[in-house]
Amino acid sequence: MELSEAMRTTGAVREYEPRDVDDATLYAILDDARFAPSGGNRQAWRVIVVRDLEQRRRIRDLYLDAWHDYVAHLLIGVVPFSPLMTDEQRSHAVSQRSAAESASDPQGFAENLDRVPVMLVVCADLGALAASDRDLDRYQIVGGASVYPFVWNILLAARQHDLGGVMTTVATRHEDRLRQEIGAPENFAIASIVVLGHAQRQVRLLARRSVEEFTTIGRLDGPIFLPT
Ligand SMILES: Cc1cc2nc3c(=O)[nH]c(=O)nc-3n(C[C@H](O)[C@H](O)[C@H](O)COP(=O)(O)O)c2cc1C
Repeated sequence: MELSEAMRTTGAVREYEPRDVDDATLYAILDDARFAPSGGNRQAWRVIVVRDLEQRRRIRDLYLDAWHDYVAHLLIGVVPFSPLMTDEQRSHAVSQRSAAESASDPQGFAENLDRVPVMLVVCADLGALAASDRDLDRYQIVGGASVYPFVWNILLAARQHDLGGVMTTVATRHEDRLRQEIGAPENFAIASIVVLGHAQRQVRLLARRSVEEFTTIGRLDGPIFLPT
């Protein structure tokens, strides 16, 4: 497959055929994904393969709890967990928590997370991250850039093996318990729970903003960038 096609068609897949992803395939995916870039090439990521049903159930419970929080934010029309959210919006979202639980879908992805073919908990050794914005007086974003290209590579590599998947992050709200679950010390951050499997549906067209909508010249309010 052409690289361009792969980038344009690797969407989030949350519904899987009831087929396993074998260890050899999983290994091959990680073996390609490891060529992701990272700050100082420190490769701070660690991957925990989770197949045990009881462990998956515990992770599902944490995920689902966080998912209800996510939905509660959607119910009040704010970007869930936005760093710019006000305290007022946050309490408003908390007040919608039981409504979010009532909206739970028994067939939903979160509700059935324990049944996915395979889960990868991706964590990062904070001591190995080059987080150049760590001293700025705002929400920190740079450290993640040393891990998420790797996570994305996992999903691209999965395509190569006719697998689909999704990078998830909501469960990081329960990072302490996830850390306990995988036996990670406090200097490790949970970056993502990546789910992989054989997609139930065919590839679909992805909806994204056009280049003109997010690219300008010289300044944020500069002229729109267009090819000459
Ligand atoms: C940083 C990040 C966090 C995400 N967290 C979740 C998540 O917790 N649960 C989930 O189901 N999808 C999660 N996603 C998947 C996004 O919902 C998905 O990439 C987006 O909606 C675009 O979907 P599409 O590629 O199918 O169009 C996450 C994606 C990214 C990049």
